[in-house]
Amino acid sequence: MDILDGKATSKAIREEIAEEVEARKAKGLKTPHLAAVLIGTDGASKTYVGSKVRACERCGFKSTLIERPATTSERELLEIVHDLNQNDDVDGFIVQLPLPDHINEQRVIEAVKREKDVDGFHPENVGRMALNLPTFIPATPFGIIQLLERYNVPTEGKHAVVIGRSHIVGSPMSILLGRNAYPGNCTVTLTHSRTQNLAELTRAADIIVVALGKPEFLKADMVKEGAVVVDVGITRVDAPETEKGYVIKGDVAFDEVAPKCSYITPVPGGVGPMTIASLLKNTLIAAGDKKA
Ligand code: GUN
Repeated sequence: MDILDGKATSKAIREEIAEEVEARKAKGLKTPHLAAVLIGTDGASKTYVGSKVRACERCGFKSTLIERPATTSERELLEIVHDLNQNDDVDGFIVQLPLPDHINEQRVIEAVKREKDVDGFHPENVGRMALNLPTFIPATPFGIIQLLERYNVPTEGKHAVVIGRSHIVGSPMSILLGRNAYPGNCTVTLTHSRTQNLAELTRAADIIVVALGKPEFLKADMVKEGAVVVDVGITRVDAPETEKGYVIKGDVAFDEVAPKCSYITPVPGGVGPMTIASLLKNTLIAAGDKKA
């Protein structure tokens, strides 16, 4: 069993990006600039956005964090998006999801200028991804693809089962694994809450990607010997005895599943850090060859 080490791999990618930023400066190209919009005070969202901004700074990017209260109206948020669309210094930006219930998430996603949509959530960019055209690939699936690639995990002709059909992870993951590319060329089954006999499907899978948000959902008896298991779950579970008051749990019962796997991602230190490295990659792409 090999660990797909997202922490080490993302560090290597971030170092490559930092070198590219230096090379850009030497060529008179612009410093990439990522902006992040955070509405409300959700603890997990604050942590994720904080990590994204810190990662930017470590790579030599410029970053801007726009924080507004949960009471922010949709119109105010759309104005922020509009300003970021117009701001020539900002190469790419994200609006952290989920948004408060009174804001229409889709309307906000569609307001983001396609060329700055480093999350890859705009319908046009989703369509471009499905057609294998140049675009921004959503950061979490992009991170998983890069992790499989850097470990040379065989994917061609394999049966991949994706658990969860979210627009952020499961759905794009199923498209990417099915593409005529490496990593890809899988036969993909996209499963969700209405799927019958899920365990039968996962037991037949060569590759399982779990993106459900249900701690330790995938058990050893659902996995065949030699499978590749990718755990996207990062749920905070109360643990009053710890300093933070919570622990992070993945969607995979790691201790019992890992011994059966050829490759598996740990939580933490698997997909999470790869997501951030991918967002930086997308921002670098967004900056393109713009002059300083
Ligand atoms: N919430 C959870 N994951 C993501 C992500 O990749 N991008 C944004 N904007 N919000 C998220």
